[in-house]
Amino acid sequence: MNSKDMTQPATDQTMLETAQQILRDNDRGGYTVPSARLYPFQWNWDAGITALGWMCFDEARAWQELDSLFLGQWENGLVPHIVFHQPADSYFPGPEQWGLADRKPPTTSITQPPLLATMVRLMRDRAKDKGLAKQRVAALLPRLISAHHWWSRERDPENTGLVVSYHPWESGMDNSPAWDAPLAAVPPTKREYQRRDTQHIDAAQRPHKAEYDRFVYLLDLFRELKFDGARIYAECPYRVADFGTNAILLRSVLDLADLCDDAGLNEEAEVQRARAAVMKKAMASLWSEELGQYVSLDTSTGQQLLSPTHATFLAGYARIYDQTTAGQQYALLERWQAMSRWGLASLRPDDAAFEPQRYWRGPIWPHINWMIAEGCQHYGRQDLHDRLLGDTRELIAEKGFYEYFNPGTGEAYGGPAFSWTAAIILYWVLGQQLPR
Ligand code: GLC
Repeated sequence: MNSKDMTQPATDQTMLETAQQILRDNDRGGYTVPSARLYPFQWNWDAGITALGWMCFDEARAWQELDSLFLGQWENGLVPHIVFHQPADSYFPGPEQWGLADRKPPTTSITQPPLLATMVRLMRDRAKDKGLAKQRVAALLPRLISAHHWWSRERDPENTGLVVSYHPWESGMDNSPAWDAPLAAVPPTKREYQRRDTQHIDAAQRPHKAEYDRFVYLLDLFRELKFDGARIYAECPYRVADFGTNAILLRSVLDLADLCDDAGLNEEAEVQRARAAVMKKAMASLWSEELGQYVSLDTSTGQQLLSPTHATFLAGYARIYDQTTAGQQYALLERWQAMSRWGLASLRPDDAAFEPQRYWRGPIWPHINWMIAEGCQHYGRQDLHDRLLGDTRELIAEKGFYEYFNPGTGEAYGGPAFSWTAAIILYWVLGQQLPR
């Protein structure tokens, strides 16, 4: 079925079939593209979420998704944000722009939210083939450990407990209003370049040109600095401790510690638990009294970035609430939900920067809904979990397997037949109901 042609809300069975078909169609032989024309390579956190989807109907293929991603891992542990397994000309910026066309496989020089250890843990827990899972986890563990050491060493060299991003794309929430202030300190590129995204998608649903000019400036800078971590840390004009990235990393550190224990790597597990304790303490400094939520920090200026984004609710996924903050934050979540027909908007809908159709400045993202809902469930708010699940299901059933959705009108935007949207349906929305 073509998801674009859906006019009637889909049943569970048709959703299951459509979701599986989307993953098969987006499979390029061992890795899955997020959406055929818009994103024709393998993305880091997409791969993690997509592997969860594959896990629901083809376990060997699910593990392979991560093996393919790690083919792009650098010697120093970096897991790149894109692995360019095969050439494609429908995307900008490609490998030559990053200055990494000669790597095998070519990659970008930046990363994305580090959710892989958590995904591996969830995949292992869900696996029917426990023997295969044990073998695959053992093979992936050294990769994950080296990625986590990279995060501590390269992105928190002063051991503050918070890791920094050098590019808004590293947050996965490319044009979030939270990045407006730090991005304003980045000079716009002076060179000509040709965007491809706006050839596929209405420009009103994509980042502004002013943002792209700075995205390009930064990637050119990394190339000019020869990807030298110490120089980039010292010289990059964009240095942000993103709450979302830190929350996702903290959760992965906790899951990695458990995976290490189960594999008999007890010393490494202790290293990870110690790191989690330092991170958890440091993340308390990202609380904003003014907004009553967690926010990100510009570490170049020391200023909190006072933008009410949905990243705050990833605190539940990261397990950092105590009972008081959990109650307070979930009351905020309910107020936030009351402001739009569907939840959960990526920006508080009464904020001046709210744009319900523009990418990370308002629309709903299904995989973030899942992460937030997972936290709600953990903290005993099954009601909030169920509401997020219901909204996510309804939007996708009625509008199709798109990338993101308007919280007010439900309109679907971005890439169609989107892989992580399909995966979220399989793993979360249907995975809760269907017998395993
Ligand atoms: C966009 C999103 C990013 C995602 C990528 C591929 O760049 O902002 O989070 O990983 O598309 O889906």
